[in-house]
Amino acid sequence: MLSAFGVPSATAGAPSLAAPGILKPLPPEYFTLRGTNAEARYETLKDTGVLTPVDRFFVRNHTSTPVLDASDWHLTVWGDGLHGRTPVRFTYGQLRDLPSVTRTALIECAGNGRSLYTTQQGESVAGTPWTLGAIGAARWRGARLSDVLRLAGIASDAVDVQPRGLDASYVTGGVDLGRVRRPLTVAKALDDVILAYEMNGEPLPYDHGHPVRLVVPNWIGIASIKWLGDIEVSRAPLASPWFTDHYRFFGAAHPPGGSAPLTRQTLKSAYELPFGATLEAGRTHRLEGRAWSAHAPVRRVDVSTDGGARWRPARFLQPSRHEPWVRWTTPWRPHGPGPVTLLSRVTDLAGNTQPERAVHNTQGYLFDAVVRHPVTVV
Ligand code: MTE
Repeated sequence: MLSAFGVPSATAGAPSLAAPGILKPLPPEYFTLRGTNAEARYETLKDTGVLTPVDRFFVRNHTSTPVLDASDWHLTVWGDGLHGRTPVRFTYGQLRDLPSVTRTALIECAGNGRSLYTTQQGESVAGTPWTLGAIGAARWRGARLSDVLRLAGIASDAVDVQPRGLDASYVTGGVDLGRVRRPLTVAKALDDVILAYEMNGEPLPYDHGHPVRLVVPNWIGIASIKWLGDIEVSRAPLASPWFTDHYRFFGAAHPPGGSAPLTRQTLKSAYELPFGATLEAGRTHRLEGRAWSAHAPVRRVDVSTDGGARWRPARFLQPSRHEPWVRWTTPWRPHGPGPVTLLSRVTDLAGNTQPERAVHNTQGYLFDAVVRHPVTVV
């Protein structure tokens, strides 16, 4: 059982993985530990709906979860992109008094699916070897970033804002990169970004950014800064190591200095079934999965149960495709016995579809290829 903000209550007795710096329980049936992070077991999302419950939601921490108190928290908006250039402070109460918005959105790490560059494409990549569980969807409630920026007096010629977290500075390879921060354009900031204080109807849990985090819909997870402390507003472009050295494409297929900084997530689909699952021959299995695209709503999902020779459409399990992800199903009566590769391929309303191969980049971001899902028929 969880107390407020996702901390285990004294009576919690179930075995839990010990992740340095993560406060909520991490039962091994739902999570895999990856350093300071906890990956959700993607296949176990099968028994959840569109929303991912907090106790199944992945955690990506550069350091560790700070325990912050909403009553003495405040947000400082500052920088030469404000009229008057005087920093403006918002308390938690003031933020909650602003008109609120509620929106269901995915948080998906840019590196979700990274390990498939290696296991599926034989390529080496650097970074946390996520499989498919660095993703979750929640119903976020909070204030509009646009309202806060306007109240702070954003100037018409401001170009970038840079939110920064209150977690400890991130030190890697002996270099202190400072607090986690990454700029976004004023155009995105004024569009659909939320300063969220609620997740699935409850106060934001500690591990997910209590008391206030940014939610930047459709952008890579790093944009959604947790434990928000301040936002710089600037008339000149801003940068950070999470903008220049990470979260860009580097490698042979990309410009020598790297690609433009990554913003939007990509599209994926996958069966909610463990890799290497065994399925009985001669009976009909109701396979299930999910599909999502950060570019446009899902239009169709095609599946193949013979390694890609023949494809057929999957059936959607929910009335609306205008959710951040779509659950689908397909019946399959395998003959077997033997190994089979199951495939699924999403196409969105903008015409994007999953390629057979993802274009390699050294840090393994934005894996978008059709997932080759091995199972054994017995
Ligand atoms: N914000 C801060 N302050 N510190 C962090 O370590 N991690 C980022 C982002 N915001 C991070 C952060 C990354 S890389 C991701 S993918 C998301 O938070 C993960 O959000 P979650 O832990 O709520 O799932």
